[in-house]
Amino acid sequence: MASNRNLLVLPGDGIGPEVMNEVRKIIAWMGKKRAVGFDITEDLVGGAALDKHGVPLTDDAMKTALEADAVLFGSVGGPKWDNVEFDKKPERGLLRLRKEMDLFANLRPAKVFDPLVDASSLKPEIVKGLDIMIIRELTSGVYFGEPRGRTKLANGDFEAFDTQRYNSSEIRRVCAVAFELARKRSNKVCSSEKANVMHTGVLWREEATKLHKEKYADVQLSHMYADALAMQLLRSPNQFDVIVTDNLFGDILSDEASMLTGSLGLLPSASLGAADATGRRKAMYEPIHGSAPDIAGKGLANPIAQALSYAMMLRYSFDLDKDADLVEKAIENVLAAGYRTGDLLVGNTDGVKKVGTQEMGDAIIKELDRLA
Ligand code: IPM
Ligand code: MN
Repeated sequence: MASNRNLLVLPGDGIGPEVMNEVRKIIAWMGKKRAVGFDITEDLVGGAALDKHGVPLTDDAMKTALEADAVLFGSVGGPKWDNVEFDKKPERGLLRLRKEMDLFANLRPAKVFDPLVDASSLKPEIVKGLDIMIIRELTSGVYFGEPRGRTKLANGDFEAFDTQRYNSSEIRRVCAVAFELARKRSNKVCSSEKANVMHTGVLWREEATKLHKEKYADVQLSHMYADALAMQLLRSPNQFDVIVTDNLFGDILSDEASMLTGSLGLLPSASLGAADATGRRKAMYEPIHGSAPDIAGKGLANPIAQALSYAMMLRYSFDLDKDADLVEKAIENVLAAGYRTGDLLVGNTDGVKKVGTQEMGDAIIKELDRLA
């Protein structure tokens, strides 16, 4: 089938390749049954690239990513590479992709599927119906700020340092994404930093406030210190709609939010760049879970976060909302039918069917067949 949608697939390390295999089945199904085709290129990233090429991402793969319409990413890292020098760590491959593609806005939705309301460690009445969107700044802050490194002090101690830095434009562009998205949701943005102790926090709050006043006064804006937000996410998460925050706070808060939904194995994300003249954005889609080395290679991993990342790609990069809805619906139905990978086996497990990675993938395909 002819297609001009170019997709780069980077399965990476750990459970990445396993969960990506299940998504390949969905991609093939979509091509056959819905004529949603892609020209797919595949490459290595992380430890896999390091083992083969001596770097966590080759220049060639970087170039392919820059030219692709979208990148579908698995996960990187694992204990095998714990002692690799800092600049070659598997994670550097991912960070290079984010930085060079300038993917400054990372959308991390946390949604509670009704059939999983018991899988959350919180009481069902606290998380039922939860639907929040965390927008994490992804190309600046302490992840990239200079100077960074370590030195040996005169007394023999080591000193290590990272720099948290943001400029006004970096804050404004990510806050703009938050306001725009809020308008399509419940029209509420909570901006989070630590303006009580950090200069970057003060600037963040000022810029969010200014931008709001200039262009988005119709959206309800609140501010919350990141520590208080971490607490409120557990106390009453339903008060939030869109949360916008920096790179490090966003990393931590989104892992926390994933637990509200029951498992890290359920949450997708979209990393978007600025829109060009035609409205097209560079984009990468990745589950928020890591490489989970403890269960890698055992066929136990939950492929849902990867599959939902693919659905986000259909929605955000290709405007294929109906197809994205279909994938999401199939997943919800499979969960409603009681299919559970190991990560979802908490709380009440009456009437559930314990499955592995492939069986979960097959169940999703079967459900797609039924829905189509
Ligand atoms: C994430 C991950 C990454 C991060 C790692 C793998 C570099 O934890 O996407 O949340 O810290 O950003
Ligand atoms: Mn993380």
